[in-house]
Amino acid sequence: MAPKETLTVTDNRTGMTYELPIQDGTIRALDLRQIKTGPEDFGMMTYDPAFTNTASCRSAITFIEGDKGILEYRGYPIEELAERSTYLEVAYLLLKGELPTEKELKEWTGHVTVHTYLHESIKKLMEGFHHDAHPMGMLLSTVGALSTFYPKAKNVFDAGQRNHDIVRLIAKMPTIAAFAYRHTIGFPYVYPDNDLSYTGNFLSMMKKMAEPRYQVNPVLERALDVLFILHADHEQNCSTNAMRSVGSAQTDPFSAVAAATAALYGPLHGGANEAVLKMLREIGSLANVPAFVKDVKEGQGEKRLMGFGHRIYKNYDPRARIIKRLAEEVFEVTGKNPLLDIAVELERIALQDDYFAKRKLYPNVDFYSGLIYEAMGFHSDFFTVLFAIPRTSGWLAQWQELLGDPDQKIARPRQVFTGPARRSYVPMAKRTPAG
Ligand code: ACO
Repeated sequence: MAPKETLTVTDNRTGMTYELPIQDGTIRALDLRQIKTGPEDFGMMTYDPAFTNTASCRSAITFIEGDKGILEYRGYPIEELAERSTYLEVAYLLLKGELPTEKELKEWTGHVTVHTYLHESIKKLMEGFHHDAHPMGMLLSTVGALSTFYPKAKNVFDAGQRNHDIVRLIAKMPTIAAFAYRHTIGFPYVYPDNDLSYTGNFLSMMKKMAEPRYQVNPVLERALDVLFILHADHEQNCSTNAMRSVGSAQTDPFSAVAAATAALYGPLHGGANEAVLKMLREIGSLANVPAFVKDVKEGQGEKRLMGFGHRIYKNYDPRARIIKRLAEEVFEVTGKNPLLDIAVELERIALQDDYFAKRKLYPNVDFYSGLIYEAMGFHSDFFTVLFAIPRTSGWLAQWQELLGDPDQKIARPRQVFTGPARRSYVPMAKRTPAG
């Protein structure tokens, strides 16, 4: 007889036993609510700060097996996609579930390409930012502002409208990003060149000066495309969770992408590659590496080895492996980033060390990506922007899936209340300082 797919729970407070169904290796948290000590009891909940063991959705988009270092988009290994696909093909795969045929890819690329321009008023809005505004701050506020230009985007259950706004977002994120960059360096904005590829056009908007057409280096164009593929989705990470949480209120996708971009801005998430370069500069030389690693270990978590460790990967992040190889190709064109030797030595020492081995801390996607970006001439405060551009397709795929999922409602976690019990109001004259 096949074993029953149930979990039996005994509440030792009451002696009562409950049988809970198991589906896909999970129990429904709401099934615990029946576990009560009496009629006044609200019922059992789970306590899971940071959702470390809670599945918030069912998803068919990205599969990660952290212990084995496996990452797949819609079943395709990341290594094969990085080797054989383009970013726009991968964006299509994430959004539609299958790789496009030649005709579908042509149409999809055409749609994205003709939506790269921004309304001139958006350009004016961007001109209002302070000269030293952080490009992520500019990106997240400008993408949020797009919602005011496309009010029909509020019709999130209209599939046609949704597709239109998805294309707009994927097409316009590189343009906003490039305008933000040109703004910080005080150069005129470069309009999209629709004869170039997605990454070729982006490089042109970033770097073109007086020449009639920007000559894109094919190695750098392809390297950026591969980096975009690697960053396109990563299941329920912090920014995707923000996208889904805000999207669950049926907010328009421009505002939801602004929220996801804000989450990505944080140094523990998308801001880590910027932090890696700061750290490598702080270390300064190969000779200082052992002392830095010692400091991290003795810091008891106060000081971290940036670009190391991951909530999900307890093995080498497969993206880090691909990026390390890609770095060699890029450095052939740009010359070697002098910080690379420090990074390699840091990785070598950390991987031999018990502290890191015991905690399963390995290089993550951010450890080497900043070195490539820097070699390609991007400023370190722009790195997170280079993450947000491709992650937009993942956010949108997850948002679309959420809207079609009958299990989903507005996201609203519970809490365990730890404040004071009900008490009488204290008049001003009788209050004591809180501190
Ligand atoms: N350096 C040194 N020690 C670390 C590091 C690190 N980078 N990361 C985790 N640890 C230690 C912690 O101090 C803790 O030690 P303890 O058990 O003695 O207290 C143990 O490893 C577990 O750490 P947690 O913080 O519980 O791990 P969590 O899964 O919450 O954190 C995170 C994951 C945020 C990525 C973390 O590893 C980190 O801060 N890394 C550095 C920042 C970074 O590279 N972020 C990019 C992540 S990839 C991305 O977002 C695209």
